[in-house]
Amino acid sequence: MPVQQGMATAPDAAAFARYDAVAIAFHWLMFVLVAVAYAAIELRGFTDKGTTARMVAMEVHKWSGALVLALTVPRLLWRAVRGAPASEPYPWLARLAGAAMHVLLYLFLLAQPILGILMMNAGGRELMVPGLGVGLPPLIAPDAALKDVLGEIHETLGNAFYLVIGLHAMAALFHHYMLSDNTLRRMLPRR
Ligand code: HEM
Ligand code: HEM
Repeated sequence: MPVQQGMATAPDAAAFARYDAVAIAFHWLMFVLVAVAYAAIELRGFTDKGTTARMVAMEVHKWSGALVLALTVPRLLWRAVRGAPASEPYPWLARLAGAAMHVLLYLFLLAQPILGILMMNAGGRELMVPGLGVGLPPLIAPDAALKDVLGEIHETLGNAFYLVIGLHAMAALFHHYMLSDNTLRRMLPRR
């Protein structure tokens, strides 16, 4: 029977459970936005006070970060509706560690931009679209002491997540190159 023969000889490459295209698009788009937010704030360190370059770096930082927040909400809703593919067959402790890491990453994607916005509001500033005079109304009243606390948390969390994100990426590469399983392929677009 030609159909059965075709199925038996077909390569088995797509047989594993993978994330759906929307979840994959969210993941990699947000990876780029977080990378841009980090790069912009680091590059700002090389600029002089009052220069256009410094202003641009800060606006890029704030708006890529705000976009992360705007996308995390629909991303979580999508995940709640569509779920995630069944995990690779590893002991429960390994699967728990992976799931805990993902919860941590989602919390960061929500908390870090919110902290950034609240920090600005506490400092008496709003998130404005440059040149348009419109923006997000302040969510809290100015409070210099609170601004300092929020700034500290934003900075500490931002620095800590270099490590957490690095571990997450290294875990994915370890699965791919050392354990040779489908963990990374699950999150890559179907070829
Ligand atoms: C994924 C999102 C974000 C990440 C990863 C992130 C990360 C960071 C990091 C690493 C710093 C440098 C802290 C330091 O060492 O001084 C920083 C500073 C800052 N971020 Fe964010 N941030 C994000 C979103 C936002 C958002 C949405 C806003 C505001 C709308 C914001 C406003 C600021 C401000 C005002 C600073 C302080 C700059 C200064 O030193 O004056 N951030 N952020
Ligand atoms: C800003 C950086 C990143 C963030 C915030 C992030 C966040 C996340 C989150 C929240 C999940 C869970 C998805 C879900 O089940 O709903 C996830 C899964 C995944 N991420 Fe990332 N990620 C980042 C960077 C990377 C990088 C650089 C790689 C690869 C080198 C990677 C590879 C993966 C893989 C393979 C999965 C699926 C894991 C599994 O199914 O067990 N991620 N990521």
